Parts: sequence; structure tokens; C-alpha cells
Amino acid sequence: MSVQIRAADNADIEKLAELEKRQYNEHAYPAGLFYQALSQWPGYLLLAHAGQRILGYALSSPALEPEQSWLMSLLVCPSARGSGTGKALLQQSMRLQKQYGTEKYWLTVAPDNHAAVTLYQNQGFEVQQLQTDYLGPGQHRYLMCCSIQINPAFQINHRSTT
Ligand SMILES: CC(C)(COP(=O)(O)OP(=O)(O)OC[C@H]1O[C@@H](n2cnc3c(N)ncnc32)[C@H](O)[C@@H]1OP(=O)(O)O)[C@@H](O)C(=O)NCCC(=O)NCCS
Repeated sequence: MSVQIRAADNADIEKLAELEKRQYNEHAYPAGLFYQALSQWPGYLLLAHAGQRILGYALSSPALEPEQSWLMSLLVCPSARGSGTGKALLQQSMRLQKQYGTEKYWLTVAPDNHAAVTLYQNQGFEVQQLQTDYLGPGQHRYLMCCSIQINPAFQINHRSTT
């Protein structure tokens, strides 16, 4: 069954929160955060699915600065990794950000998360700086940014298939 990307809705959230909990345990975003995100930033929560099975999600948020946004989280369930799902979620979130008028799309990532750093670099994100203790003592993060509007790769397409 092919993987599809679509906007999430409230009916997806308990499963998304379970996926998040399996990855991050006590550091996981709770279901309430996803409900709030859907309410405040409709369209910014994308999920990947194969039929009824949820394979991953991407969550973005507007930044304080105009025409800037954050990729808050990108997660693919372990059994679905390495098959293009993360790339499809990221690319669809970038297309949507382009549609929304975002010029700079930001994210942070652990420097030793080679899979994620490679994925982001291949899609046009560049490391801006290393932010020490960003998520607490010893929790360093690369701050990465992509200039969405000048990246010609992204055409608008509300549904995509890997
Ligand atoms: C990072 C993550 C989202 C990637 O998802 P995925 O579905 O496995 O990634 P894809 O199969 O779409 O691969 C996309 C690209 O990522 C890179 N990549 C993926 N897995 C990799 C690995 N183990 N090592 C190095 N690069 C890797 C490759 O460049 C790949 O591009 P290619 O297929 O053209 O070679 C996934 O590993 C994940 O959910 N990790 C845990 C959560 C996490 O770390 N999220 C990011 C937080 S900032």
C-alpha cells in the first residue's frame, strides 16, 4: 500500500500521541499539544499514512517574525524508516510553507542525529549555528534554516504520495 501525506485532524491525535510517546517517552509531546496545534495552526500538522496505519507526522508553527516558520517536529515510526516517508513529509511541509508565504523555514536538530541532519541538508536547509544547551544542559542543537521562496523545487501540491 502506498504512503500518503495529508493534513491531520482531531481523529488522528491519539495515534499521533502514541507514536510520539514510543519515540520520546517522558519527553513526548502530549495529545493536548497536538489538539492545540490543530486549533491554532490548522494545516500545519501533516501525517503520513498507509491506509489506516499512521507512519509519521510533521508539525510546524508560525514564528514571531513575519514570513517565518518553524518545523517543530518530524517523526517516522521505526518500522517505516528508510523508505522515503520522512522526506515526503518534509517536502510537503515545505510546499505548504511556500504556499503560506513563508520565506525562512527554521528547525533545530541534535548534531549527532545524522539521519535527520542529512535529510534536512539534502532538502536545502543549512546549519546557521550550534546552539549550546538549547534544550537544557548538554542538549545542544544545530539551528538550521531554508529559504523556501527561492527554492524552485517546491510546487504546491496538497496531497502527495511517496
Ligand atoms: C529523521 C527521520 C524523520 C527520517 O525519516 P525516514 O523516513 O527514515 O527518512 P527517508 O527514508 O525519507 O530518508 C530521507 C533522507 O534522510 C537521510 N537518511 C535517512 N536515514 C538515514 C540514516 N540512517 N543515515 C543517514 N542518512 C539517512 C538520507 O539522506 C535520505 O535521503 P535518500 O533516501 O535520498 O538517501 C526518522 O529517522 C525519524 O523519525 N527519526 C526519529 C525522530 C527524529 O530524529 N526526528 C528529527 C528530529 S529534528
